[in-house]
Amino acid sequence: MMTIAIVDDNEVNLALYQRVVAEMHGCTAKTFVSSKAALDWLVSNAVDLVVTDYRMPEPDGLEMIRRIRSMNGHRDVPIVMLTGVKERETRLAALDLGANDFLTKPVDKVEFQVRARNLLALRQSKRHLADRAAWLAEEVRKATEQVRARERETIHRLARLAEYRDDETASHTVRMGNFCAVVAKHLGFSEQEQERILLASPMHDIGKVGIPDEILLKPGKLTPEEWEVMKRHAEIGARILEDSPSEILREAATIAISHHEKYDGTGYPKGLKGDQIPIAGRICAISDVFDALTSKRPYKPAWPLDRALRIIDEGNGAHFDPMVVRAFKQGLDEILDLKARYAS
Ligand SMILES: [Fe+2]
Ligand SMILES: [Fe+2]
Repeated sequence: MMTIAIVDDNEVNLALYQRVVAEMHGCTAKTFVSSKAALDWLVSNAVDLVVTDYRMPEPDGLEMIRRIRSMNGHRDVPIVMLTGVKERETRLAALDLGANDFLTKPVDKVEFQVRARNLLALRQSKRHLADRAAWLAEEVRKATEQVRARERETIHRLARLAEYRDDETASHTVRMGNFCAVVAKHLGFSEQEQERILLASPMHDIGKVGIPDEILLKPGKLTPEEWEVMKRHAEIGARILEDSPSEILREAATIAISHHEKYDGTGYPKGLKGDQIPIAGRICAISDVFDALTSKRPYKPAWPLDRALRIIDEGNGAHFDPMVVRAFKQGLDEILDLKARYAS
């Protein structure tokens, strides 16, 4: 049922309009003798068409149009204004305020019905279009969500692949991602950026898939030549991950190439210094080292916290960016919680 609100201070006219609308199939009239009452009703009611007289006690027809157009939900409702034959100026003003059509008084029944029908039909098709647009937007949102979920799934699998060649346990990569996110938070990164580093950093050592077993798995110390081969995992990792349309994989590539750089320029592969090292790499450096120090390895026990923190302090400004060390310490309680939660 479509509702037509009709406003006229003349009750005889109103009764006439009501009869005219009663003949229109699927339409119902809501009539008002006072424009003020009509406005009050419109504030909280939906309507499909407004027909308003021009000459009325305040607010008049023009003011009605102006107020209706400023109401939320009535910006697009069609409005027809009833005017006298000679009120050309008034019609122009009404058009300016957003009236859609006019009817000349005295109103002809058929003309009223035809105008009303046309405006209602237009409104209905507009509404269908809007519904369809909303439906499409929802479909796009769902599809985007799916693509994102698949991207994440692929990334989790890549991270799992990386674990198989890491010299530590699977939970090392999980802990490291979580530590990185905490440090990023204390550096003021957005939630999206925190999530990105959380997902990207577990792939920091994925380049180890390109290191021969006799070097990667060698018990005891590597020769200088073997060490040079081992260092190549940074560049191999970057080559595996780089140039992706995925922001997470691009970040992972950045991390792979830069997680062994040191703040004072003595790291590898490029010997970058300070701010030349991407911030994600600087964050991963401290997270990776801290987790290695506080975890048990085949060749060492897990170090106690104070000893690990001493190493971090000694590396402050040398291996590690002081700004990142500060953020790491601010987040230390959270990091220790995570360490306990993801203990292997
Ligand atoms: Fe590494
Ligand atoms: Fe690592």
